[in-house]
Amino acid sequence: MVKTKLQSKKTLSTEHPSGDPRYKLVDRTLKRFRFQQDALIEVLHTAQEAFGFLDDDLLIYVAQQLKLPLSWVYGVATFYHFFSLKPQGEHTCTICMGTACYVKQAAEIVALLKREYGIEPGQTTPDGKLSLATARCLGSCGLAPVLVVDNEVLGRETPESTLAYVRALVAGQSANGGQPAVGAATATIEETEEAEAL
Ligand code: FES
Repeated sequence: MVKTKLQSKKTLSTEHPSGDPRYKLVDRTLKRFRFQQDALIEVLHTAQEAFGFLDDDLLIYVAQQLKLPLSWVYGVATFYHFFSLKPQGEHTCTICMGTACYVKQAAEIVALLKREYGIEPGQTTPDGKLSLATARCLGSCGLAPVLVVDNEVLGRETPESTLAYVRALVAGQSANGGQPAVGAATATIEETEEAEAL
């Protein structure tokens, strides 16, 4: 009988056969949630943080550990915009294209970055420095237009200030070497989530 890739991995709750230590981070989250299937999103978050993106082996591993069909895990990973199935660049810039941001020049920001770096949203520059992405409402409409550059939320940017910020980042300077727009706001994702929860 021909074994499938999934069947051949019979290492439930034990060290991943690859020996890659990053799987330990995934295992820790699996254990924290007692391998409950409804912890899938949490586990995928940890996996993506550890590996940068979710490749096939990782999705198979998570599916196996949570005893979920691979098609289900794959479906969740592709449904949410914050999961990526492709390698990401050293820096990522996600621009919100929700209505509030769209009317405040989000499309112009995307167009300028596309022109500057020669990539479309969903792509990474050939040198692996920058990945561009777009998203639906990021939940901070009061700061429109909103972008997330690496883990930092930027609000009230202009196309020019965004480009200056991203250029500085890609050049390896402190992100603050870019000039946020007058009145621009920055916050970490965590701070934004905390503020919204209040
Ligand atoms: S529309 Fe962009 S944050 Fe809501």
